Amino acid sequence: MIRELKKVDDHISLFEMKSNALEVLVTNFGGTIIRLLMPDKNGQKGDVVLGYDSIAEYQTKDAYLGALVGRTANRTCKGTFSLNGKTYTLPLNDVPNSLHGGVHGFSQKVFDAKIQGDSLVLTYLSPDGEEGYPGTLTLSVRFCWKGDSFCIHYHAETDQDTILNLTNHSYFNLNGKGDVQKQLLKIHADLFTPNDDVCLPTGEIRPVAGTAMDFRRFKAIGQDADNDEDCVRASRGYDANFILDGSIPAVTARSPESGIVMQVTTDQPGVQLYTANGMGPVSGKNGQVYGHRAAFCLETQHYPDCIHHPDWPSCILRAGEAFDSTTVYAFSVDE
Ligand code: BGC
Repeated sequence: MIRELKKVDDHISLFEMKSNALEVLVTNFGGTIIRLLMPDKNGQKGDVVLGYDSIAEYQTKDAYLGALVGRTANRTCKGTFSLNGKTYTLPLNDVPNSLHGGVHGFSQKVFDAKIQGDSLVLTYLSPDGEEGYPGTLTLSVRFCWKGDSFCIHYHAETDQDTILNLTNHSYFNLNGKGDVQKQLLKIHADLFTPNDDVCLPTGEIRPVAGTAMDFRRFKAIGQDADNDEDCVRASRGYDANFILDGSIPAVTARSPESGIVMQVTTDQPGVQLYTANGMGPVSGKNGQVYGHRAAFCLETQHYPDCIHHPDWPSCILRAGEAFDSTTVYAFSVDE
């Protein structure tokens, strides 16, 4: 079931999508997931994503809660890249780098919204040169259900060669409150891309074995997050890209407290685990205050800054070609 729940103004609406077990609230402002209600092991519905009470807060606060991020998720080194012999310049909104598509990236755009059957389809035409990126990009994002799995399908086309790396930036907390230190993750990745001290990949590809990044078996987020290791030290916790090995699901998250289990499946080559290190305190929805490690993000994506690493999977989208990608979030409960 899907319906337009509320018009915020002439252009922005809230859409409610329900499956048997789940309820999701999405807005066409920034393609943002505002709420995701899931019953816990006692049958009590809890909201497993962080968010704000008003669209105005999504417009002014910069943590990308629940947002669709693009044109390129994560960092582009020094906000510049060359393509077909031309150099392009992006806004340096995370000095000295460009982050999450720039100052007015997709998380700040109003999308056209259409309900199509059981799906919500958001579309946006990104003009040539927007935030410095080449090519007129036509983007369409479909939110839909497969049973109780919530799916996001991204489709994009361009009229000039460009770069593209799309993700959803939901902040998950499977208890709906507190921090995520005791929540467990299993990430199907033997390798990761270590960062420098401004969170930019150095180009190295390193085994997770023997590091805090080893989530090949279920491990509590807080267990190694404060280790004295270069993969967590500068970020005060996790903020790095895992190289997925292609398993289905790619990541499983579970909370022993609520019993809620989330499995993430993607066709993308990487996932950024970001654990809201040093967040806030910032006021969120329903009177909550979000602090350090209030959530974890699993941003399915191409590796950050891959335009500067030609041997990594490429984020170049050629004129006349289509980009298609799906990420699925499946929810269940451990009794
Ligand atoms: C980045 C973090 C950043 C966060 C919020 C994550 O994707 O990796 O470094 O602080 O988004 O912008």
